[in-house]
Amino acid sequence: MSQQLTQIQPLSQPVNIGDEVATFSAAVEAEIDRHLAKYPVQRSAILPLMFIVKRERGYLDPPGVAYLAKRLALRITDIWEVATFYSMIYTEPVGKYHIQVCRTLSCKIRGAGAITEHCAQKLGIRPGETTADGRFTLSEAECLGSCGTAPMLQINFDYYENLTPERVDQILKSLG
Ligand code: FES
Repeated sequence: MSQQLTQIQPLSQPVNIGDEVATFSAAVEAEIDRHLAKYPVQRSAILPLMFIVKRERGYLDPPGVAYLAKRLALRITDIWEVATFYSMIYTEPVGKYHIQVCRTLSCKIRGAGAITEHCAQKLGIRPGETTADGRFTLSEAECLGSCGTAPMLQINFDYYENLTPERVDQILKSLG
């Protein structure tokens, strides 16, 4: 079974990330060891380890990807295809507050476009951009699993639901 799980086909477009491999403190390595010990198949620890690398380095940068590939005995493409699937794993630097507005059907028909536009106007950036002071990144995300309270957005680990432009103003103000 474990052999089957590790026999995966590479993507047709390999990712070139350079030669640098991230290093971590002994405490972080011990934390990583504890996660790895939970799983009979090492690759199953990929998400908890990604969150640690993201926490330590701010985002999943190329040396962080190389570290995960080495630690989990996986190919770079194996790491990359997971990293680029989840909206909570960042592969580029983001601001202190990462605002992700859901743009999928329920949110879309309940005004997500207006919410995104309101955020963009308030922050002076477009989706995909970060404010000059590094405080806010604005993104659009696919369904975040809170369709019953559309429109909604996520800021870092928190959800904000049943949004109106006025509610967005309150939220942004509360972030300072
Ligand atoms: S469609 Fe927006 S949370 Fe599902």
